[in-house]
Amino acid sequence: MTHRKQPSSSNKLPETITVRGGEASRVLEEHVNEGNIIRVISHNDADGLSAAGVVAKAISSKNGQFHISILSRLKREFIKKLAGEKYSLFFFCDMGSAHLEDISRLRGDVIIADHHQPSDFRTDSNIVHLNPHLHGLDGSRDLSASGTAYIATRSITRDTAPLALVGAFGDMQYDDGFRGANSFIMEEAIESGTLQAHNDLRIASRYHEPLYRSIAYTFNPPLPGLTGDMEASRGFLERIGVSYGVRYGDLSPEERDILKEELIRINPAIFGEVLTARGFQPEIRDLSDFARVLDACGKNRKYGIGIGLCLGEGEGALEVGLELQKNYREEIIRGLSWIRREGSSVMSNIQYIYSEHKTFKSIMGTIASISLSLQLLDPDIPLLGLSRMDRHVKVSARTTRSAIERGVNLGLALRDAASSFGGTGGGHDIAAGAMIPYRDMESFLQLVDEIIGTQTGKV
Ligand code: C5P
Ligand code: C5P
Ligand code: C5P
Repeated sequence: MTHRKQPSSSNKLPETITVRGGEASRVLEEHVNEGNIIRVISHNDADGLSAAGVVAKAISSKNGQFHISILSRLKREFIKKLAGEKYSLFFFCDMGSAHLEDISRLRGDVIIADHHQPSDFRTDSNIVHLNPHLHGLDGSRDLSASGTAYIATRSITRDTAPLALVGAFGDMQYDDGFRGANSFIMEEAIESGTLQAHNDLRIASRYHEPLYRSIAYTFNPPLPGLTGDMEASRGFLERIGVSYGVRYGDLSPEERDILKEELIRINPAIFGEVLTARGFQPEIRDLSDFARVLDACGKNRKYGIGIGLCLGEGEGALEVGLELQKNYREEIIRGLSWIRREGSSVMSNIQYIYSEHKTFKSIMGTIASISLSLQLLDPDIPLLGLSRMDRHVKVSARTTRSAIERGVNLGLALRDAASSFGGTGGGHDIAAGAMIPYRDMESFLQLVDEIIGTQTGKV
């Protein structure tokens, strides 16, 4: 008989966040029991969609009703609009912690489940505010918005734990495993039987795409030489004598062994823990695949499809979601070929890529990040992806953990540089963005170059 290990003490949830979560569940349940429709507001990426799904499922489990709005970001005008609505409970996910003052003016009760840096404003008694940063956890690695929403609804249902981890995959919090609170949720889900972990090849869409596509679509962990390149992937499989047109699951055991050995040679990280949930439809059973489908729904503004998938509704949503994902992946592959072809412009401390192509606008951050992990561009030099938008330029910057250890902080660099030109910018040390006037692009790049130089002690 095997005994599963108890979650180790380092993976324990801080008691204070559990208590706050219990309070949120109690408030939510009271409103549902009174027959109130719950107003849910969340973010338009994979983590935000999963978070809204976690909350909606908890409400449904008590036969309650909800009204969801998905936003790219929370603006003051939207909060004003909410103030005119007659709901008695507003549930914000993946946003809100930076808008406490405005939100406190809403007349009803409020629950916030966010993981971004909170503002200093002291919350009123009508707000139950959950945020990992308030409990000594790192919101960019230990807990995502969907995980925070899970803690806020955990006393109502724990069946949503796998969905809570889908959001963590969406925000790239799975890095050779989960840490902190994410890891607690994972252990809890395995324990209760809603999540299964096994060791396998960590390739994309292995349950429904032909193998050569699965391999070419594996952006994370990267397979240099194969990721993003269908021809190369097919050629590789032919060369090692493995059928390329069947799904991974249909390979013979011998073929699997050969494939495993050859892929490990390219990147050892390709073999490891795979997390799947039997409760999800087979094509999105792998949590990381599910997150990638939600990314595609978000990028294409098909929020209803994303939420439908989270709620496990109908085959129709899955078909549309997979089609969106296919197009999204093709766009990423086109973007990567463009980078392979054109390379980047290198300055003293940064490098940049610039496009006026409309389709690259929404994937610039993604292809910037993948081109560093695939080493198509020098991963040691922070990369800015610039997209022209009429009179403005949208900036997506990405770097690596090792650059951060040398002092790079893209969030601060972009915030300061953008504000010098009347633009806005910010984000995390590893991933940040900005919007600046087109006419100042050259000077902006010069300034970012200088700031990064200062951060790394080169100037
Ligand atoms: O940075 P962004 O939010 O755009 O990244 C999310 C997307 O990044 C996902 O679509 C995922 O496919 C992709 N990605 C990845 N591996 C990386 C970087 C990004 O899979 N190293
Ligand atoms: O809007 P938000 O703060 O959630 O965006 C975070 C961004 O940082 C996402 O695009 C995510 O993919 C990216 N990221 C990354 N590498 C990490 C962590 C996050 O590219 N290690
Ligand atoms: O747009 P992109 O995915 O590159 O954004 C990366 C990170 O930068 C996100 O966390 C986003 O919230 C942040 N960002 C910001 N201010 C902007 C643009 C992006 O704080 N003007």
